[in-house]
Amino acid sequence: MNILFIGDIFASAGRSIVAEHLPDLLSEHKIDLAIANAENSAGGFGITPLIAEELLALGLHVLTGGNHSFDKREIYDHFSRQPRLLRPANYPDGLPGSGIFTGETAAGVPYAVVNLQGRAMMANIDCPFRKADAILSSLDPTIKVRFVDFHAELTSEKMAMGWHLDGRVSAMLGTHTHIPTADTRILAGGMAYQTDAGMTGPYESVIGVDKDIILRRFLTGLPARMEASKTGVELHGAVVEVDEQTGRATRIRRICAVR
Ligand SMILES: [Fe+2]
Ligand SMILES: [Fe+2]
Repeated sequence: MNILFIGDIFASAGRSIVAEHLPDLLSEHKIDLAIANAENSAGGFGITPLIAEELLALGLHVLTGGNHSFDKREIYDHFSRQPRLLRPANYPDGLPGSGIFTGETAAGVPYAVVNLQGRAMMANIDCPFRKADAILSSLDPTIKVRFVDFHAELTSEKMAMGWHLDGRVSAMLGTHTHIPTADTRILAGGMAYQTDAGMTGPYESVIGVDKDIILRRFLTGLPARMEASKTGVELHGAVVEVDEQTGRATRIRRICAVR
């Protein structure tokens, strides 16, 4: 089976390029499971219930999140209404939402999607490595197809998580930096890996934000209101082919679409 993953959808520019290209990507790559990180889909900061539902209605099956998952207050109640909308699993117990979704593809193949967040140069939440162990040991062993979005800053933490999950997960793709990395590969235990899938949004920017605003901040040190850029829009992600009998990945390819 084939899994499509789309990296951090940033603001309206990111949402519109997903709407434009998703139908072709789904048919061209014979996608059975389509996942996207949507933590920045609302103006670059968070996600709203309406945007979550619009993205799912386009044909995405699961939306993952990250450090921006809780930016918009109105999303809190929506987590319990929409189990396909995830936020990182290793936030403190008791917060709205979940970091795991289990479902079946249209062809009846069971799968699990897990969302975790790193701690290096990020919020000091629960250990993602231990949380991954707990989640994987509680998963129904008949669910062979397992996808992890690891939302983290450092390449080293992501690579370490890759080795930690290898052999237990079909694919781990990184998100958060908004910079796609050229290291798609299949690790020794059969897990497809990429340090960062990259952003789906405006690349004429600094990780999605208007470049002039960010440059002014670096040059003056003064605070400035962030605004999403609208130019240089690209879609980035990867397609992973998984043997659904074993859960092992057989192929991973980076994908990119431009307007
Ligand atoms: Fe992001
Ligand atoms: Fe992030």
